[in-house]
Amino acid sequence: MERIPASGTLKMFELATRLEAEGKRIYHFEVGQPDFPTPEHIVEAGIEALKHGFTRYTSSRGIPPLLDGIEKHYADRGIQIDGSQNVIVTPGAKMALFQGFLSTLDPTDDVLVLSPAWPTYRNLIRTVGAKPVDVNTHPRYGLDEEELKSHCSKTVTALIINTPNNPTGGVLEKDQMKMIHDLAVDNDFVVFSDEIYEMIVYNGFKQTSMLEIDPTMEHTLAINGFSKTYAMTGWRLGFAIGNKETIDNMVRIQQNTTSCATSFVQYAGTKALNGDQSSVKMMVKAYQKRRDEITNIFNNMDGIFCINPAGAFYVFPDFSAYNLSSSTLAELILKKTGVTSTPGISFGKDYDNHLRFSYATDLSVIEEGLRVLSEYLPTLL
Ligand SMILES: Cc1ncc(COP(=O)(O)O)c(C=O)c1O
Repeated sequence: MERIPASGTLKMFELATRLEAEGKRIYHFEVGQPDFPTPEHIVEAGIEALKHGFTRYTSSRGIPPLLDGIEKHYADRGIQIDGSQNVIVTPGAKMALFQGFLSTLDPTDDVLVLSPAWPTYRNLIRTVGAKPVDVNTHPRYGLDEEELKSHCSKTVTALIINTPNNPTGGVLEKDQMKMIHDLAVDNDFVVFSDEIYEMIVYNGFKQTSMLEIDPTMEHTLAINGFSKTYAMTGWRLGFAIGNKETIDNMVRIQQNTTSCATSFVQYAGTKALNGDQSSVKMMVKAYQKRRDEITNIFNNMDGIFCINPAGAFYVFPDFSAYNLSSSTLAELILKKTGVTSTPGISFGKDYDNHLRFSYATDLSVIEEGLRVLSEYLPTLL
């Protein structure tokens, strides 16, 4: 456990909660979860499942209607998978990742992580004894093919990609994913493709799934979930899609750990995936408006550069001009203005000049919070 640092987001959240309890106005930008409630028809499906007595253990793989639902969801996009063989339903995407790592990685393995990256990847890789190796995409978060190639070696057995990305909101294009797959084949490693934000994309961008590039799934384990697209973070529901051997191994882990994802939650998830999608469209439209607003405000502040991201609900502005470590800057900003953020250092050692802001929060919080921030920041320059 000594290899796993405390969560940067949680540290800020705890400090913010303490200040809030003391009566300070706090503008929350630290936690990456939708501020929308879970859509009504999904909640109803969960309640109906409970009323109908779906309160027992399920198959460790997942309930057949959800496995079929996932198969159909992909078939509608032209991706052929067999729900009964290629899918495992888990309590959250995090658990899918953990099981994927446990069943694939050995303690001597190096795992490439396209960086900046969600801290959980490195922490889970370390938990199973393997070693995370950062591949930077700095300074504009574009994928650097040569940099990636230079990290491929015999000890590398996996690569993690996440598109749209947490923390930058950046996306990988189809040709980049194809290049990554070619590298995986040439160097015989597995690509863990975290696609949890795939539906939260803007201006008509369509996120390619790694499953389109690698239909046999020989070199791919795709990770996905309901938390972000359907505002279901607390329900804990995710899934992984991969070849039969990997999924069977993950099922054995699940049989001996959590047994299954919660029974009635799986019914709610089935409704989420195959039911009315208008609430998803509504939420994405709202995120897009907030994204435009927050990027615009940041880029009008002195000494800050902020990319307008193509997906997810984060911005990762560059605060190099302030010459402070990201933890010091985040804490100062929180104490002085009540604006919370996550220090860039949490996402990779070369990103200590960035802060992450989640804009899955009301437009009024964005406007008011950033107004207070823009009044304070010049005093630090
Ligand atoms: C990139 C990424 N993957 C996975 C997750 C976790 O998803 P879940 O709630 O399904 O465990 C998160 C949550 O912040 C995330 O940002």
